[in-house]
Amino acid sequence: MSTPSIDGIRRILVIGSGTMGSQIGMVAALAGYDTTVQDISADMLAQAKADLSARLEANVAKGRLDAADAEAALGRLDFSTELDAAAASADFVIEAATERLEIKGQIFARLGRLAPDHAILATNSSTLGSSKVAAATGRADRVCNMHFFNPALVMKCVEVVRHPDTSQATVDTVMELARRLGKEPVLINREIPGFIANRLMGAIQREALALSAAGIASKEDIDTTARTALGHPMGPFELMDLVGLDVIDFIAQATYAETGNEADRPDPQVAALVAEGRLGRKSGEGFYSY
Ligand code: CAA
Repeated sequence: MSTPSIDGIRRILVIGSGTMGSQIGMVAALAGYDTTVQDISADMLAQAKADLSARLEANVAKGRLDAADAEAALGRLDFSTELDAAAASADFVIEAATERLEIKGQIFARLGRLAPDHAILATNSSTLGSSKVAAATGRADRVCNMHFFNPALVMKCVEVVRHPDTSQATVDTVMELARRLGKEPVLINREIPGFIANRLMGAIQREALALSAAGIASKEDIDTTARTALGHPMGPFELMDLVGLDVIDFIAQATYAETGNEADRPDPQVAALVAEGRLGRKSGEGFYSY
């Protein structure tokens, strides 16, 4: 068993080029790591590349990022459809693919065969504890959750979640890597549905949805209250639209399946919007129009 060390990390592989994967890849490249973002869809990769370039350009235009630093970061970032080759040269893997256990299971089994022995295999999943995929890798001690928040380029928190066989060396390396990526990691010592942030967010969302459904206040006024009384950067309805109503619904389904608690039951208002294709900002319509 090789002990993962922070200084041995040169190349990071991010699997999945959706909202989370693409920005996590950019975070790694901006922090100086050679980074590959891998996806089975070349179209998704092209979209991710265009989005990230536009974001960096906007930051340069605002004077928040030096043009040369942006160019250097883009130079460190490559996009690939080839998982096997990317895995073979990775020192650290962050999986941010579809939230489906059978797909993640296959990916982790492949990573276990192909990634160098020292590589840590982390999942960005917010709903699946890494213990569900660890055994398939043959290196369960080097597997954990490393959960970023949307938008990953901005949000400071990273939840690091260990499972019973995650080694202390792995935890230490993942926490330190998060710091080197400019984040503030928090450690969760036991897998629990929703970890910390989604449990807190879920409680506020449940209350907001109940107040709105009972006609006690409009969603606009509930959002305003969260911003002006509690100092939240966004109200709960605005935040659900940002995260994606499909993601909110999926998290609730996964949590409810695991806990069976009535409080975790998926919300019918959210499910109805998802059924209409109103997924939030990414589809142009959610609780609000964009
Ligand atoms: N992607 C990347 N960067 C973005 C962005 C996006 N979607 N939206 C805004 N930004 C950047 C802007 O470029 C800007 O950067 P600079 O300061 O360098 O210029 C910065 O964020 C601030 O943006 P704005 O001034 O336009 O707007 P704002 O001050 O309202 O901030 C926000 C936007 C950062 C999204 C802020 O509203 C916020 O923090 N909202 C709460 C987000 C949140 O709670 N996220 C957690 C979701 S839960 C989750 O992700 C977990 C899960 O499992 C579902």
